[in-house]
Formats: sequence, C-alpha cells, structure tokens
Amino acid sequence: MKDGKRMNVLILGSGGREHALAWKTAQSSRLGQLYIAPGNPGTATCGENVPLHLHDHAEIIRFCREKTIDLVLVGPEAPLAEGIADSLTGAGFRCFGPSRAAAQIEASKVFAKHFMARHGIPTARYATFDKLSQALAYLEQIDYLPVIKASGLAAGKGVILPHTRAEAEAIVREMLERRAFGAAGSEVVIEERLTGPEVSLMAFSDGKTVIPMLPAQDHKRIFDGDQGPNTGGMGAYAPSPLLTAEGVREAWETVLQPAVNGLRLEGRPFVGVLYAGLMLTPAGLRVLEFNCRFGDPETQAVLSLLETDLLEIAEACVEGRLSEMEIRWKPGASVCVVLAAKGYPEQPETGQPITMGALPENVVCFHAGTKIDTDGRLVTSGGRVLGVTSYAAHLFDAVNLAYDAVKQITFDGMQYRTDIAARVLKADSSAYAASGVSIDAGNRAVELMKSAVKSTYTPAVLAGIGSFGGLFDASLLKQMQNPVLVASTDGVGTKVKLAAQAGRYRSIGHDIVNHCIDDILVQGARPLFFMDYFATSHLNPEQTAEVVTGMAEACRQAGMALLGGETAEMPGVYQPGAFDVAGTIVGVLEREQMLPRLSALKAGDVLLGLRSSGPHTNGYSLIRKVFADTPLETVFPELGLSLADALLAPHRSYLDVLASVITLPHVKALAHLTGGGFIENIPRILPENLSAVIRLGSWPVPPLWGLIQQKGNIACEEMYRVFNMGIGMVVVVEKQAVNVVQASIPEETFVIGELVPGAHKTILQGL
Ligand code: AMP
Ligand code: GLY
Repeated sequence: MKDGKRMNVLILGSGGREHALAWKTAQSSRLGQLYIAPGNPGTATCGENVPLHLHDHAEIIRFCREKTIDLVLVGPEAPLAEGIADSLTGAGFRCFGPSRAAAQIEASKVFAKHFMARHGIPTARYATFDKLSQALAYLEQIDYLPVIKASGLAAGKGVILPHTRAEAEAIVREMLERRAFGAAGSEVVIEERLTGPEVSLMAFSDGKTVIPMLPAQDHKRIFDGDQGPNTGGMGAYAPSPLLTAEGVREAWETVLQPAVNGLRLEGRPFVGVLYAGLMLTPAGLRVLEFNCRFGDPETQAVLSLLETDLLEIAEACVEGRLSEMEIRWKPGASVCVVLAAKGYPEQPETGQPITMGALPENVVCFHAGTKIDTDGRLVTSGGRVLGVTSYAAHLFDAVNLAYDAVKQITFDGMQYRTDIAARVLKADSSAYAASGVSIDAGNRAVELMKSAVKSTYTPAVLAGIGSFGGLFDASLLKQMQNPVLVASTDGVGTKVKLAAQAGRYRSIGHDIVNHCIDDILVQGARPLFFMDYFATSHLNPEQTAEVVTGMAEACRQAGMALLGGETAEMPGVYQPGAFDVAGTIVGVLEREQMLPRLSALKAGDVLLGLRSSGPHTNGYSLIRKVFADTPLETVFPELGLSLADALLAPHRSYLDVLASVITLPHVKALAHLTGGGFIENIPRILPENLSAVIRLGSWPVPPLWGLIQQKGNIACEEMYRVFNMGIGMVVVVEKQAVNVVQASIPEETFVIGELVPGAHKTILQGL
C-alpha cells in the first residue's frame, strides 16, 4: 500500500506513549500532516502541537474538519471512555481507538470481570459489590487473600493489595462508604490475589481479527526490587522472554481472540489496541486487567521494535481489514527507563530545569511530563518526566545502552529504577520454568493439570486428586437452616466432535462445568464441588490437560472445587481423535430458596432474558449437519469471525450475575435454555395452568442464528425449539419488580415475554 493516499493524522494525548506514537507516525511513508493535541515538547519535534481540549469533542471535530484529518489516534483511556471515538465516527472521521461501549473493558472493572466470566477468559475469581454490608460479609466468607479494585478509571490508583482482613475491610469502607475514590469506587471488585510474573500483551484489533504485538514487561513499583508504591510504570522492555512464542499463541487463543469475539458478539466491536495485563501463575496465565489503548511505558519499547508502518496498520484496523496485514518486528530488544520527578507518585515536584547531553545512537528520549517554561527552558511538568528508550540486538546490550544514555540527563530530584529488565537477564531457565510457560511440554501437561485441579480447592476439600474418593467437609452446611443438596450430571453432546475437529479442548472444559452450574442455579443452588469424566480413544497429555485446565478454570470462577474425576483411554470404543466429557455437580441451597416458586407463579409475570454466548451446548447435531461441508476456518462476513470461534464459544455460567438475584423475593423461577430451546425448557418450570408467551423481536438475535437458519433452510419455529437464539437464561419476575430485578443484574437484560393462563406450553408470538 506504499502508494496509498497520504493521511493527515491527529494524535490525542500528551505523555511518553503519545510521543512514541508521534515518533513512529512521523516515520510513515503515508503521512501528510501530523498534529498532536495537546502534545508536549517531544511531540513538537515530530509534528505540530495544537492546544485542543480532550473533553471538548466539538472542538476536536472542528479541528478535524479544518485540517481535513484522515485518521485520529487516541492515546489515553479517558477520552475513549468519554466516547471520543463515537463522536468522531459520528462526524465522519476515522478513529483508531474503541467506542465508548467497547472501552468499558477498561473503564469498568465490574464489566470486564463479568465479561471475562461470560466468555471463559481466564482471570482471578471474584465478586462485585456496590453495597458495603454485602462486601463486608463476602470478605468474611472468602478463603483467599483478596485484591480490592475500584471499578472505574482511577489513574492506576484504584487497585489495592491489603495484607490483612482488617485492612481489606478498611479499604472497602473507604471506597463504598467514604467514597474516597469518587465515582470510580462506587462499585468494587474483590478478587483472589494471584502470584507470578506479569507480562503486558498488547494487540491490534479491527473488531474481528486480533494480532498480538511483542510481549513487554512493565515495572510498576517506584523502587528497585519491586518495592514501594505502585506508579503508572517506571520502565519497560520488549520482547519479554517470560512469554514465549507458545505463550503468546496461548494468550491469543484463550484471551485476545475470545475477548475480541465476545465484544463483537455483544454488539461492541473493538477497534484499536487491546492491552491484556497477564499474570503467569503456577496454574497458567490469568488476565489481571484489560486496557483499551496502548500501554505506557510499554509502547515506547514495543513501537521501537515495530518494522511495519504504524499508519498502515491503524488504517487497516479502522477499515476492518487487519487480516490482510502482515506485521513485522525488528529482531533485537528495546528498553525504556522512566526518569521520574522527586515526590512521584504521591506529589511530584514540577518546574525543574532539565539538561540533556548528546544521546548515543539507537536511543530516543521520549518526553512525558515536560514543558517549555516562559524563559524558553525545558522543565519538568509531571510525575513521569522522560522515557529513555534504547534499541540493541540483545536485551543485555539494550539495558546498558539505555542506562548509558540516562547519564546524559539531569534534573533536580530525578529518580529512576536501576533494575529495568534485570530480573529476566539474571533468571536462568529454571526461573522460566517456575512461571509455568516453557518447561518440557509433556511434564507441563501433567503438572498443569494437577496444579489446575489443586487451584480449585477450597478449605472444605479434605482429599482430592489421587485418593479413591474425594472428601468434602460438609460442616459448613451446619451454618445453614435447612440445607438441601442438589446434584446433576450432564455432558456437552456432540459439541465435543466439533472441538476435536478444531483441536480446541480448553473451552469444552468450560462448557461442561458452566452447563452444570446453570442446571442447579435454576433450582436456586450454589455449587460446592464438581467431578469430571473424560474419555478418549488415545490419551494425549496435552489435550487432557487442556480439557481439565478448562474445567478447573470454570470451577475456580464459580468458587467450586474440582474434587475428582476419571480419565479413561478407550481405543476401539471412541474413534481415533474423538473424546467425550461429562461431569457431576453438587450444590446446596436453603429449602426456603428452592426454585421454581411454583405457587407464586401467575399470569402477568414477566420473562427476562439474559444473553447467551453462542449455542452453549445444544443443537450441535443440527449445527454439524448444516455446516457439514463448511471448513471451520471459514469467516462469514455477518459473523466477522471464524465458524470455529462462533460455534465453540464457551457456555456461559450465570452464577456471577444471578447468584444474589435469585434470593430476591420477586424472582420466582429461572429456566436454562438448553436442549429443547424455548419450546421445551420454559414449560419445565411452569405449573399446569400457565403458558409462556415469547415475543420474537424483543431481543437482538445474533447473526449466527440467521446464518444457521438460512443455510440449513430451517423453519423459524424449529429454530426456537432447538436453539437458544441468543438467550441463554430466562428469569421469571413479578411484574412490579421488573425494574428492580433488571437493575440488580449487572448486564443488559431483555423483557422477552410473560406468563398467560393456558395449557402449559410456550407460545411464540410474531413468528
Ligand atoms: P491492574 O490495574 O488491575 O493491573 O492492577 C495493578 C497491579 O495490581 C497489577 O499490575 C498487579 O501487580 C496487581 N494485581 C492486580 N490484580 C491482582 C491479583 N488478582 N493478584 C495479584 N496481584 C494483582
Ligand atoms: N503500563 C500500564 C498501563 O499502561 O496501564
């Protein structure tokens, strides 16, 4: 595309990240004019700084018109969360950065956690609260050391790692009672504290395709040795050997692509840079957070290694044709050392004159908190002042080069870390092994499976893996009034066949567990433990570990122990390559909370629908027939993702969003839309004298269903008999309480129908 039209570009932001973006953009053969708003003295060497206000969308749009801007690149998260991309696209300008709705992945940690749960993206187990009493009660119950996070944007200060229960309680009070974190802290996430090295993996996304950049590592604490308070980031290097090529592929498959698919399927396609903050825990990789933009200072290091023209990539993203791009990286490594002001991160001192000698070759000094004062001197004007960024063939040399360059720069009170990348340089292979990413694949499979299973253990597990029978301490039930145990066994049907065909195993683990969770949730129960059965023609440790790891992830997300299971090798019974999974769940509830509340159900009760993540686990025999001749890699334009991604999206668990809702007095019943679709599942919870009316058109039916119907030439009614049509769970609610119940479910719900007098069936209205 070298001969493509030249583009006038506007970059929004004023930090080190934006200087790196401007620096890289200035190298583009496609660049016309470059403007940075508001920019800093560093960006002024790459293009023209313009004093626009980032909240003033009208002003930005006027500027874009005046200068015929072809592309806007957005640096920071705040304008994205405020909808700058929506304003720009609404006015006909192309914006590389997500819509307000897609930016929720960063702007609301509550949204992000529920989103990850919905799409089976591995993350720490958690709960969310906006009521102090409930949060405090939860802190009493949990068996793990918590991390407390303000849900909203809090400029990197909203995450707190308490050392004691008392400290945790105090923080929750600060957020929910005293509003010390403002609106950002009006909702909190309490999640399990994980351990392991952290890696930042950024990726380009056009809403469908997602291409990872090189993995980088940030250094968040202010002092050497990861001591002292958290900062915006004191230095970074790339590529990080902590995430091998195999690790990047795993993150792409289990985190980035499911996130981009999920956002798209939920009607908020993500265009821009998706940043995954990953922790490499002993049980595998976990997402700590998503950001909706380039990281700072990771971008300074990563863009220094980007060979492909950044503008061509950004243009491909906004035009939805990223899959056509090949993204190339320079061999070698880059290191960014942040020079911070005295008093950072609490109260940075500003106005100090900066002196800078000649920098060595292959070093760029990116400006962040600098300005030109009234005397024309370069002075400090923020916490992170400069990012000294080097490039060399080897990480070791890049580190030395960066620190050589640091010696050329002085300002009063300058502080920086002297150990950027030091840990990985020192680490031998055993340290990598400890991070669980690059040890021998075979052993890892077994180890991974064991540690994945163990990572689900609650204190109630007395004996688990390796014993003849699992032992689960039931004394916690003594605290209940009238405990009732609920058990259910299920399989995932012929979805396993598609998974085997696509070589995807982990999501099948999520499928079986989440399916079982939903089956007992509709009876009002919360899960205690799970037992699995995995049978295959030929035992392949990697594949087994994947399935079991998937089950363990889903169990952990539900706070349920994977107490035991059985792996069976049965050549001759299963065809080569074929496998099957089944599982049994045991849960508990108070007798008074049993669902459905049959005697309370009456005509006029309203049916609320919650989204499904795909076909879940039913209708796959028909689906396989419809797509028998279609390769799984096929990307249908209406789906915007491969058939494999659309069909193998993991089954949702509704536990996190409905656990507290099912105890509300006006919630009368739940129906899990599984085999039998609307027609058969809803009557299962109704008394003989009531029917359910489902109003078609009352929720957006995702495009997958239209595709199946059309390709398979299936009657509309049949679709609703077999499939969930985009609704995975139905909640039956007293009419007057609909608003209250909707407000207590932390995602969009749809009023899809109501109960009417009649003979115990589902009536589809609007066929
Ligand atoms: P975040 O803004 O979510 O990335 O959190 C900031 C930092 O807090 C992370 O870089 C981690 O060092 C730490 N952190 C966040 N969540 C967890 C967790 N679940 N377990 C351990 N550390 C965490
Ligand atoms: N370096 C962390 C961030 O950009 O959020």
